[in-house]
Amino acid sequence: MKEYLLFILMAIALSSLATMTSCKHTPEIINVSSDPMDSIPNSGTPCDPAVVYYFRDIQPILTSNCAVSGCHNSTSKREGIDYSSFETTIATGKVKPNNPNRSKMYKVLFDSGDDKMPPSPRPPLTSVQKAIIKKWINQGAKAYFCDAQVGCDSLNVSYANTIAPLLSNSCVGCHSGNNPSGGVSLSNYQSVANSANSGKLYGTVAHLSGYSPMPPSGNGLTICAKAQIKNWVEQGAPNN
Ligand code: HEC
Repeated sequence: MKEYLLFILMAIALSSLATMTSCKHTPEIINVSSDPMDSIPNSGTPCDPAVVYYFRDIQPILTSNCAVSGCHNSTSKREGIDYSSFETTIATGKVKPNNPNRSKMYKVLFDSGDDKMPPSPRPPLTSVQKAIIKKWINQGAKAYFCDAQVGCDSLNVSYANTIAPLLSNSCVGCHSGNNPSGGVSLSNYQSVANSANSGKLYGTVAHLSGYSPMPPSGNGLTICAKAQIKNWVEQGAPNN
């Protein structure tokens, strides 16, 4: 908790500094070991659609595909690699800032056979996810942050444009294939709609009592993402 407060204070200090020295196109950077998966709540820094934000965009992909038990989480650390936080990703994750083609973290996504990551039966990353990782490395592999609440559109939500990409980044790594975690698949519309209609989709992401909190590690989805899921479920989980 103390760390979190310090972190918020740092965020506020950094963001006022940034407004003072105002260089519009340089996103702000923060260097901390454990962060809300969200960008920084209440920092007021709008998210630039052209920028990849580590905590919002990269960590969820790593958490659901790589930093899992037996693989690259902070206890298993297979091959010494730990993708559970920004700091460990930079220190151990084989990232060469600005150089995706020399970054093993990126190259293994295209390998085949035994070297393929994530290994079977886990699904490969989607081409969109690979492109996000590439762009992050090309941006210098920084921990840029923004406030996902600024400009959050939680009303205008659709399955195809909002829900599916969100689940793809944060959930599908564990919830797909022949033996999905908890017996719950979230990789196609019908099974997502079933979870939505049973109350489990929103119950798990909003950490309501009686549901396992999801994702199981980290600080959870952004406030914006939770509101988007809530509204989509309340609209009857349409296939739109
Ligand atoms: C690192 C792997 C992992 C990730 C990422 C993950 N889950 Fe899970 N999930 C599990 C496991 C393991 C279970 C079964 C054990 C449990 O219920 O705690 C589970 C169970 C569930 C259940 C059934 C819970 C119940 O009460 O029956 C739902 C629904 C669910 N997850 C949704 C999600 C959603 C939505 C996301 C993304 C926001 C997500 N999960 C991300 C591993 C994961």
